[in-house]
Amino acid sequence: MNDLKNESLCALAMSEGRNWMPFTANRLVNGRGDHRVVASAKGPYYTMADGRTVFDTLSGLWCTPLGHGHPRIVEALRQQAETLDFAPGFQMTHAPAVTLAARIAKMAPDGLEHVFFANSGSEAVDTALKIAIGFHKLRGEGGRFRLIGRERGYHGVGFGGMSVGGIVSNRKMFATVMMPGVDHLRHPYDYAHIAFSKGQPEWGACLADDLERLVALHDASTIAAVIVEPVQGSTGVLVPPIGYLQKLREICTKHGILLIFDEVITGFGRMGENFASQRFGVTPDMITFAKAVTNGIVPMGGVIVTSEIYKTFMSGPESAIEFAHGYTYSGHPLAAAVAHTVLDIMEEEDTNARVRALEPVLEEAVHALRDLRSLKDLRNIGLTAAIELAPLAEKSALRSVQLFEYGLQEGVLLRVTGDTISFGPPFISTPDQIREMIHKVRNVLLRCEEEF
Ligand SMILES: Cc1ncc(COP(=O)(O)O)c(C=O)c1O
Repeated sequence: MNDLKNESLCALAMSEGRNWMPFTANRLVNGRGDHRVVASAKGPYYTMADGRTVFDTLSGLWCTPLGHGHPRIVEALRQQAETLDFAPGFQMTHAPAVTLAARIAKMAPDGLEHVFFANSGSEAVDTALKIAIGFHKLRGEGGRFRLIGRERGYHGVGFGGMSVGGIVSNRKMFATVMMPGVDHLRHPYDYAHIAFSKGQPEWGACLADDLERLVALHDASTIAAVIVEPVQGSTGVLVPPIGYLQKLREICTKHGILLIFDEVITGFGRMGENFASQRFGVTPDMITFAKAVTNGIVPMGGVIVTSEIYKTFMSGPESAIEFAHGYTYSGHPLAAAVAHTVLDIMEEEDTNARVRALEPVLEEAVHALRDLRSLKDLRNIGLTAAIELAPLAEKSALRSVQLFEYGLQEGVLLRVTGDTISFGPPFISTPDQIREMIHKVRNVLLRCEEEF
């Protein structure tokens, strides 16, 4: 199929809405033609079908920190496809998955020793929730079935993740079919106390006491686990106040509740450490990961668990399947091989140190936008930041479309959700690219200020 034919087929299929796109205003995108179609990508840039080049301000969807088209990763994928493209992962395994599990466990905080592979963040989360419930059951505490999420949390779109998630637009259509026994902590974003914080806000550790409220309401003996993102990414980079995660850990430990950190965004360097858990000095009982582990090239997700959890499952007759759970593609050879190469590159190039060096560059650039009149808040941590604009009542949705459009015109692919623009640039970005990105965003915001 030559390019011309490809393009015209693409245009036709778009006009017919054949590709029902995820989390997308389908009719709007289909109506906008070429400039919403990505043609190729290299390093930190995408080239759109209309020829425009745009900077990848969110590393794909937080998943391509090493940039696009990395020759070593492409080669690893090719070689693995030639050697072993697929093998069943049930009742057998293969070296890339086994050694990757050992490697990830070594990168994780002490005590987290075993890895269960899935293929996405959503699957990783649902896996972790099932492990939590199974763990208590196996220990004779089957009454612990409740799962506690958090307002504004995002844990994917499976029934488990959706139920513990706290983003209302994702929940409202399915209100009647949520998992039973789920409750939510209040979110830790208290604008009045912490607006325009650089890094972790100083106020807000006390918000973790909300867990005591839920324990008082439900009784600890009914609660299996608490799941939180250490930094809430999808809702617009909500940074944990100093001491907040420590307090959550203490309360969970006190009541025998498992603590799960959903590190699908923060895992593998986004906070300048392997995991946010290490950055914040708090060790959960499980970590979920996905996204950056394969640099987004092939899907992979997983859960890292403590040896206590693993050993609890490794009981009963040796011939029995200990955990009746898994996916056809758990630990897929291509994903495992790619992940090894991604982790090689991260180690060799010390991307954690690079993120730590870029963090103040992003912080300074973002907070220099403070003079803009449309702002509500600016926040940042690690190589992430968010710009929150004052809401515009009925015009906010239209403004978010315009922000995206003007971004494309200025050369930045923006992730706009409601009134917030989130940033998670690739680790390979140079300081100048980060400054240029924010400079372009200033132009976008000024254009929007004229219009709204
Ligand atoms: C913290 C967190 N958990 C889970 C998910 C779901 O991941 P996926 O889209 O790979 O299912 C996401 C996706 O952004 C996420 O940010």
